[in-house]
Amino acid sequence: MNELTMDRLRENLESLKMKNTLEILDNYLERAVAEKLNIVDVLDYISAEEAKSKRRRAYEKQVQMSGFPIKKTLDEFDFSFQPSIDKRQIDELATMRFLGNGENVVFLGPPGVGKTHLASALGLVAARHRFSTYYINCHQLIEQLKKAHFENRLPDRLKILSKYRMLIIDEIGYLPMDIQGANLFFQLIARRYKKTSTVFTSNKTFSQWNEVFADVTIASAILDRVLHHCTVVNIKGESYRLKERKEFIRQKQQIVNTLFEQGNA
Ligand SMILES: Nc1ncnc2c1ncn2[C@@H]1O[C@H](COP(=O)(O)OP(=O)(O)OP(=O)(O)O)[C@@H](O)[C@H]1O
Ligand SMILES: [Mg+2]
Repeated sequence: MNELTMDRLRENLESLKMKNTLEILDNYLERAVAEKLNIVDVLDYISAEEAKSKRRRAYEKQVQMSGFPIKKTLDEFDFSFQPSIDKRQIDELATMRFLGNGENVVFLGPPGVGKTHLASALGLVAARHRFSTYYINCHQLIEQLKKAHFENRLPDRLKILSKYRMLIIDEIGYLPMDIQGANLFFQLIARRYKKTSTVFTSNKTFSQWNEVFADVTIASAILDRVLHHCTVVNIKGESYRLKERKEFIRQKQQIVNTLFEQGNA
């Protein structure tokens, strides 16, 4: 192939945004000539690599925009440490079937048991399936909605938030909410109801949600919609953070003991 044709080829690949093909082109063409590959094999390989790289880039962009605070996967979750979790239930959620039906998920449990880890890990699976996902902590969500309301932008904000196929609302009940906050929260839940899936995490039991949402009527209207089609994962166990802390202290103590023994030897 002459230089002119190669230049045109590169230009076309660039305008078609075929970044991966551009990167592998020179090496791959050399290999194709050396190995006498036929044109169909060449096109097959190049197009498969381009598609793979586009999927990877779309996934990375989606993950970046989703704002997950923990980017750990389900494989990184030690289920043996948390026996109250039925792994089959999590595996079922990981199929993403619940998104197809607009169903919700609630992770309940005390601090450090892995609620945010599991919710974010489901978000990563959703992103891999190219579903739009977004993570937000409950307090920030309420602040955002209040600001939008104050600036007369509430309908737009609600519209955007109700479109995500998976919205993760983390830390419900960690900070107090006033009636206006509860009202705004209800509006969002009502808009997403049965259409799009929301994953909630909370350290409060459902009976305590009355206090979380400042008003019993709003709280029951929210709970009614959240729980109508919902998988509840109630985690009863020890904090993983404490386990890691205990492990750290144990290792430190071991080092001190060893040094002490060496000093006495
Ligand atoms: N079973 C587990 N296996 C592996 N890592 C875990 C497990 N449980 C928790 N972790 C890790 O411990 C840390 C705390 O977990 P996480 O933030 O998910 O807890 P949480 O239930 O959301 O706590 P909080 O209520 O305080 O927000 C994270 O780094 C998480 O990855
Ligand atoms: Mg958390």
